[in-house]
Amino acid sequence: MNDQSDQEHLIALGRKSYAPNYRPRDVVFESGRGCELTDVSGKKYLDFGSGIGVNCLGHQHPAAVDALQRQSARLWHSSNVYFNHPAVRLAARFIELTFAKRVFFCNSGAEANEAAIKVARRYSYDRGNPNKNIIITLKGSFHGRTLATVTATAQPKYQEGFGPLPAGFQYCNFNDIDHLRSIFTENVCALMLEPIQGEGGIRPISNEFLQSAAELCQANDALLIADEIQSGMGRTGKLFAHQWVSNIRPDIVTVAKALGAGLPIGAVLLGDKSDQTLQVGSHGSTFGGNPIACAVANVVLDTLHTGNMLDEIVRKGDLICHGLKVINDKTEAFCDIRNRGMMIGAELSEKYAGRAGRILKESLENGLLVLQAGDSVVRLLPAYTINDAEIQTGLVRLQQAIESSLSDE
Ligand SMILES: Cc1ncc(COP(=O)(O)O)c(C=O)c1O
Repeated sequence: MNDQSDQEHLIALGRKSYAPNYRPRDVVFESGRGCELTDVSGKKYLDFGSGIGVNCLGHQHPAAVDALQRQSARLWHSSNVYFNHPAVRLAARFIELTFAKRVFFCNSGAEANEAAIKVARRYSYDRGNPNKNIIITLKGSFHGRTLATVTATAQPKYQEGFGPLPAGFQYCNFNDIDHLRSIFTENVCALMLEPIQGEGGIRPISNEFLQSAAELCQANDALLIADEIQSGMGRTGKLFAHQWVSNIRPDIVTVAKALGAGLPIGAVLLGDKSDQTLQVGSHGSTFGGNPIACAVANVVLDTLHTGNMLDEIVRKGDLICHGLKVINDKTEAFCDIRNRGMMIGAELSEKYAGRAGRILKESLENGLLVLQAGDSVVRLLPAYTINDAEIQTGLVRLQQAIESSLSDE
């Protein structure tokens, strides 16, 4: 496959073969290296989206490729009936580096959150409180697409037509601590939140809200679950985004996306309250702790803690935001630019209202991959390994795309 007609053929085939739940762009990627992707016609693209915050070390990072190749020549799968070396090492590393006392491995973000919800309910049940089963989540959140996690996702558009939804979920107004207090009854077993809402538009939870929410959980023996599926694994310049707020120690942290740098893996980090909750037979996942995925995840953890990687994430995130401000001076495209490290959202101004899709399309034509969040936010989640020259090139392409988005199609 190497020319435009091959690409068109594949797109047509894909369009009639895939379930229509996605709306893929007119491109078929064949390879990637660093922050550059190449489609089957040979066109190159700078990747500012990392496959929705997944390819955090870029494409074909040498240490990740090496770990994958070595592990694939040894053992692919053995099931959780036995231990495997990369998974044991990964769990032990998380325990060494974080609040976690135990780790449960699975394959995706939704699966990690599903497990966290089960742990929270079981935790209260084990204490003789079977009715203490309500999970509070925040409006605008995104926690996944399984029935429980889509119910946790406090956005009606994701839930429509899938009822009856599981009972026992309540929604709190974003950053509204008075509302949280008013719905925090004795039957609440957990509060689940993203420290920075990703799909909801790169919206950070305020420090005050997080601190008060943690106190409420503590006072009511409810678990604080931080969904760090998008914000974790270094994305914000710390291993986890909640670490930017002093004195916050969640009871559970869920991880996926960047953890596998492109391989499917999820994890639930369990603190000392719930580390014994999942007793034998209570939960499981055939593929969880897959040796190849865990071998690569170990590389991600090691790389994040090598040299000044986390500081560089902060520096590069600020560099990109500075570039977005310069673009804004020229185009007036944004009314707000928000970031924590390399988790970046630029909210479109009135002048560009409704043009996010068009900006994404023009960017693609210009050889730049960017993401959308919510209706009106251009979201950037580049690989941590991107270099300054690539950042500048990407920003030039983005500015061109923004300018072209105003013209008639
Ligand atoms: C914060 C958050 N939680 C959960 C999920 C669901 O993850 P997955 O798509 O791997 O199931 C996502 C995915 O976008 C997410 O951003």
